[in-house]
Amino acid sequence: MAIEMKNKVFSLETANTLYQMKVDEYGVLYHLWYGAKTGCCMDYRLDYPDVGFSGNIPEAGNCRTYSLDTLPLEYAASGVSDFRVPAISVTHADGSTALDLRFESARVVEGKYSIEGLPAVYADEKDAQTLEIVLKDVASELRVVLLYGVLAKEDVITRSVRVENRGDQEVVLDRVHSMCLDLPYGDWDWVHFHGRHTMERQVERLPIAHGIQESGSRRGTSSHQQNPTVLLCESDCTEQSGVCIGAALMYSGGFQAQVEKDQMEQVRLVMGIHPDTFAWTLAPGEHFNAPEVILSCSTQGLARLSQQFHHVIRHHVCRGEYQMSKRPVLINNWEATYFDFNEEKIYHIAKQAAELGIDMMVLDDGWFGKRDDDVSGLGDWFVNENKMKGGLKALIDRVNGLGMKFGIWFEPEMVSEDSDLYRAHPEWAIQVPGRAPARSRYQLVLDFSRPEVVDYLYERMSTILRENHIEYVKWDMNRSICDWYTATLPAARQKEMPHRYVLGLYALLERLTSEFPHVLFEGCSGGGGRFDAGMMYYCPQIWCSDDTDAFERTMIQYGTSFFYPISTVGSHVSAVPNHQTGRITSIDTRGVVAMAGSFGYELDLNRLSDEEKQAVAEQVKTYKKHQPLIYDGKYYRLTDPFAGELAAWQWTAQDGSEALVQGVVFRTRPNTLRRCLKLTGLEAGARYRVEGTEAVYTAEALMNGGILLPRTSGDNQPFTYHLVKEA
Ligand code: GLA
Repeated sequence: MAIEMKNKVFSLETANTLYQMKVDEYGVLYHLWYGAKTGCCMDYRLDYPDVGFSGNIPEAGNCRTYSLDTLPLEYAASGVSDFRVPAISVTHADGSTALDLRFESARVVEGKYSIEGLPAVYADEKDAQTLEIVLKDVASELRVVLLYGVLAKEDVITRSVRVENRGDQEVVLDRVHSMCLDLPYGDWDWVHFHGRHTMERQVERLPIAHGIQESGSRRGTSSHQQNPTVLLCESDCTEQSGVCIGAALMYSGGFQAQVEKDQMEQVRLVMGIHPDTFAWTLAPGEHFNAPEVILSCSTQGLARLSQQFHHVIRHHVCRGEYQMSKRPVLINNWEATYFDFNEEKIYHIAKQAAELGIDMMVLDDGWFGKRDDDVSGLGDWFVNENKMKGGLKALIDRVNGLGMKFGIWFEPEMVSEDSDLYRAHPEWAIQVPGRAPARSRYQLVLDFSRPEVVDYLYERMSTILRENHIEYVKWDMNRSICDWYTATLPAARQKEMPHRYVLGLYALLERLTSEFPHVLFEGCSGGGGRFDAGMMYYCPQIWCSDDTDAFERTMIQYGTSFFYPISTVGSHVSAVPNHQTGRITSIDTRGVVAMAGSFGYELDLNRLSDEEKQAVAEQVKTYKKHQPLIYDGKYYRLTDPFAGELAAWQWTAQDGSEALVQGVVFRTRPNTLRRCLKLTGLEAGARYRVEGTEAVYTAEALMNGGILLPRTSGDNQPFTYHLVKEA
């Protein structure tokens, strides 16, 4: 049994971890433990110091040692004597904001719960259990149902929250976070992933300081600037050892993660929808579902934690026909042509790509409406026959004739003011009446909280997908959202709109992905601006960044790898000088870096030298050979590229039979020893041959002594070792 309820102690056991809670004599639900399995109740660590200025709950009378403000709580409410960051805040009908949650009931259900309208981890009924704990406000009929999904084998616990209004008056939810985690002891760091457009998921590890530190997004999307994932690690935790806990929010809208170190040196993490762009009115009888958060804990360092997240996202979040199958190696015309193309140019690119073994041609932005630059045309999802003579069908037939699949770009959530759609339906664009809206990339956002907008996009996209042999869709989203206002909600409920937008987005994705199961949907938001586990429920891969420079990508992909499986990371070889940085790297370097993902090209291959074309043909073969290992092997970060010397990573097959080591040496230094790179995760006692050579090493030699990297000349030099276990 993964879930045990005994004497009001709840123990959630996974293969290697224990998550424990307890109800005290007043009905307060404590968080006792998340960490290694201990085989006992961890309540012996509860301490009750003199609480000073922290108040008592009424039942505690004049006791000076009982306060919600100093105890580790499982789901902290605001307004009644816990003054730390809350997980939930509400406003009652009389305007008061006190919420005092006490235990009411609990039950265990076989299988993993799902959440209406929202993405959630799924599992076979026999492989997961759900714990539901109901908390009730002492003075109202508001109930908070805490949901825990336990995937024991995966070392994963999911959390979600349902708030139910069983009273007879409206209640406004001002904040409903998906999780709260109190850690009373330990010296913790937190890691968050920040960045910007073309520089996503940069890694920042900081000691948790007194007060509140925060990451989040108020942009209507999960954002380039902060990713909805957080790591808590004990200060001595490394890649290979130590305790760490990861939290990944399965949500594609604005989010907030706060870590607080309180007066008692205790740490609290809360995470969920960003309260600045949220409020929700619950009428009597209604309920609200918060999005899910995926939690995992490792006592063996960060590499292990990442592998746990990779596994759960690949096997229990991603769905559809392309979840586990091989992905086509694609060529995308964006950096090859931008808006300047016609059907002949696209065919010409496809033809050369087909000759080099590439599987799919993707037609990017500009094939529809009046779209010769980024000022007009969004929303007009009708093929531009001036540009594409004969329409899409003629081009697709020719591309298919080359033995290639065909894919296409959409940006469904957007509208240009210069478009027929906007002229017909200006009220569908998000803007505040009487106020000029902020434009970003000249475009406005469609109000996806309106069902008729979602229906219109469904009709347009499904018609195109039905009428044409399209096997891939790139779903882009190229701005942050502001000027929130919808004519469909009364003034007092306008703050519901950002979440209603996300629900509309998920509804459209659900309809299209289920109606077109043969289509591979790739997410994108100016690269990785919506790179989150929510989108991965619909899109098994997401374009990782608009920065295709190999050197920069080593860092972006390093940060991305802490939570997200390599199979989700869209990664392409592009032209040099690189369009984002002007940097020149060799075709081999670009190939090695792009292979750490869902591989493809984004340039006009006709412009390459014969030697480079030969290299491309080899890369495609190499990638196809190693794709199972890259997608399903255990992934290890061998170096921290932010340290400035080299980037190196490794996959080891689950059965230890082979490993692939790749990387880039950033700089060559004169007259110095070659670098020696220590490998990891090989099968103890095994011997590995370096493919293509006679060299055989023991796993112990490779892991303790390292492998000698090639002598380099010039900057950004790549290396690859394929190690095959000797029989
Ligand atoms: C975004 C995407 C790019 C490309 C352009 C097209 O920036 O990230 O890959 O599709 O839009 O406008």
